[in-house]
Amino acid sequence: MAKTAQLILDGKTYELPVVEGSEGERAIDISKLRATTGYITMDPGYANTGSCSSAITYIDGEEGILQYRGYPIETLAKNSTFLETAYLLLHGELPTGDELSKFTEHITYHSLLHEDFRHMYRAFPLRAHPMAVVSSLVGTLSTFYQDSLDPLDEQARQEHAYRIMAKLPTMCAWAYKYSVGHPFMFPKNRLSYSANLLHMMFGTPAEDYEVHPALSKAIDTLLILHADHEQNCSTSTMRIVGSSHANLYASASSAINALWGPLHGGANQAVIEMLQYINANEKSGRAFLERVKKDPDVRLMGFGHRVYKNYDPRAKVLKEMTRDVLEAVGTSNPLLDIAIEIEEMALSDDYFVQRKLYPNVDFYSGIIYQAMGIPVNMFTVFFALGRMPGWISQWMELHQDPASRIGRPRQIYVGENKREYVPIEKRG
Ligand code: CMC
Repeated sequence: MAKTAQLILDGKTYELPVVEGSEGERAIDISKLRATTGYITMDPGYANTGSCSSAITYIDGEEGILQYRGYPIETLAKNSTFLETAYLLLHGELPTGDELSKFTEHITYHSLLHEDFRHMYRAFPLRAHPMAVVSSLVGTLSTFYQDSLDPLDEQARQEHAYRIMAKLPTMCAWAYKYSVGHPFMFPKNRLSYSANLLHMMFGTPAEDYEVHPALSKAIDTLLILHADHEQNCSTSTMRIVGSSHANLYASASSAINALWGPLHGGANQAVIEMLQYINANEKSGRAFLERVKKDPDVRLMGFGHRVYKNYDPRAKVLKEMTRDVLEAVGTSNPLLDIAIEIEEMALSDDYFVQRKLYPNVDFYSGIIYQAMGIPVNMFTVFFALGRMPGWISQWMELHQDPASRIGRPRQIYVGENKREYVPIEKRG
């Protein structure tokens, strides 16, 4: 017999279905609760709310496990490429050699931007944050394909998925080029996804740019590590916007904006700014940690996670990668020493231990980006580049799921009760 949960309300007992996932996660299905009892549930921040069933990504936050389509993140980071991982997320299986070639061909085929995009960059102030530029331009893509935007058309969905994956590196690199007054570099389709990104960021028409293989490998790994993370803030945004049948570009543009916040993807920029501040002002991490513990408005950026109550497996891979990248570029970074010192202190400090606060994916990624010469305000853009296949896969899944409905949470109203309108001359 199917398992149920019993709810006793106002002396009446209700049976609620229990849903079980493939890794043994359990949920109480309350979808009929209001219809049968008149009650809703309250869950600020949705910490206990499952908004969908998904077969894409599995996280066990207590054990520090992350898997895409059943493959552990450590295995993919070591053996896969970003495009192969993107294929896995989008299609559910690892590609054969032939499937990967075709997929790569689709992605590279669409990598150019319409020439009108050049003018659009010029409409932004030079100092515009590239997340604002990129999110606007991704939304703008919908204006170029107005006849085929129906999210219920499977073939059109697929075509737009290729386009957005293909054009995003060009858009992001051009946002950087525009901000430094350099000419835009066209994509080179014979390069890998990550090498091409570096070429468009750092190449100039005046000189050939040799992409360092260790750096393009590091970018590829970073993109893999960021590629999906189930129902986080930006992915939930992607799904909720998509649930209104908004097109892929509108949904992705919204997800990019959700990612920008410092509590989410913007944390990688915030971590470097924090480490730079400590380096310039406090010199040691200890004094800063003491401030974090005393002042609720000061957070140790790159630490803590809604789901991980253990070491974030992505941070583990990144910590190991950091030294390799510094070695490849032949530099050292005092911020790395501060980060390692802070991590060691925090992991043995009662405040952080009791709250189960561990380094998350953003703690070390910024040090790697910085070593490669990627400007701080581009860090979150790289996060968005990595997350795009995850967002698209989740959006596709939403449209294939017969159970999906428009996302529309309820509320408990705590404002004024009905009252009489008083004309302005009588108010006092
Ligand atoms: N520094 C200091 N204290 C913290 C931190 C932190 N980074 N994170 C959580 N806490 C404390 C918090 O003050 C609270 O303490 P108390 O119980 O005494 O009030 C407790 O830990 C629980 O925190 P919370 O804010 O209720 O936890 P949450 O699940 O709502 O927030 C978080 C998760 C990621 C927003 C939060 O840990 C945070 O602000 N971290 C810093 C920002 C960051 O690194 N974000 C990147 C997250 S990973 C990548 C991504 O999602 O994009």
